Amino acid sequence: MRWQREDNQVQDLPGAVPEALERPKATAVPEHVAIIMDGNGRWAEARGLPRVAGHRAGMKAVREVTVAADDLGIRVLTLYAFSTENWKRPRDEVDFLMALPQEFLLTELKELIDKNVRVRLIGDPEALPAHTRKAVDEAIRVTSENTGLILNFALNYGGRMELVRAVRALAEAVRDGRIDPAAIDEQAVANALYTRDLPDPDLLIRTSGELRLSNFMLWQLAYTELWFSDKLWPDFRREDLFAAVEDFRRRDRRYGGLR
Ligand code: IPE
Ligand code: IPE
Ligand code: MG
Repeated sequence: MRWQREDNQVQDLPGAVPEALERPKATAVPEHVAIIMDGNGRWAEARGLPRVAGHRAGMKAVREVTVAADDLGIRVLTLYAFSTENWKRPRDEVDFLMALPQEFLLTELKELIDKNVRVRLIGDPEALPAHTRKAVDEAIRVTSENTGLILNFALNYGGRMELVRAVRALAEAVRDGRIDPAAIDEQAVANALYTRDLPDPDLLIRTSGELRLSNFMLWQLAYTELWFSDKLWPDFRREDLFAAVEDFRRRDRRYGGLR
């Protein structure tokens, strides 16, 4: 595998995109990959560190996986960063997690802009602290014209809450005579979700060995291929994303039909 460096030196690099997954040939590379980034706390505890050290280490994995997804030609990368249930955690941990977007964007925003990445958010921004919201809003604003990878953070996101919002919006539209109940079909529901203009995930990755969805994208994952890893999120590397994508490419997606 050859790799073009910025100084135009071509060289072999570990962790370069495997030949079979390179962009021009990668017709079956998933368009949308969603990741439940789990195991930060256990990663820290195993090292005798406070849980928040795991969250900070997890940011490195976010950076590496974002670059890897871009290298693969993935169009949308959705990262589950904070669920509507994560507010139940101790105040200190929640405060730390709410400071991370700002910290991440402070160091990464320039590179994201250089890479033509567009930052987006799914979830309810209302409940976020002002500093978190400001950092995310700024990243969304300055990358809004970018046409490359969509880096979609699920922040204060819950699948059930998203569906409740959609039901409410549709009920209001019926009440106001803007939509006939008989016209509410799957497309109408999909259009009332945060993801209205995004394709459903093709591939869902969850790290840390947990085999559950934890309220993530309940509508959108209906036909998504699932891939679980025992690795804790801070240990997740670009090679792990490549392995998941290679596995995805061997799957036979039938959508209820026959092959
Ligand atoms: C995932 O790691 C990050 C968030 C949920 C914000 P955890 O913090 O859930 O780590 P574990 O599952 O306790 O190891
Ligand atoms: C899911 O992980 C949420 C995120 C990764 C942001 P959790 O660690 O909160 O999930 P549970 O509690 O194990 O189901
Ligand atoms: Mg967890």
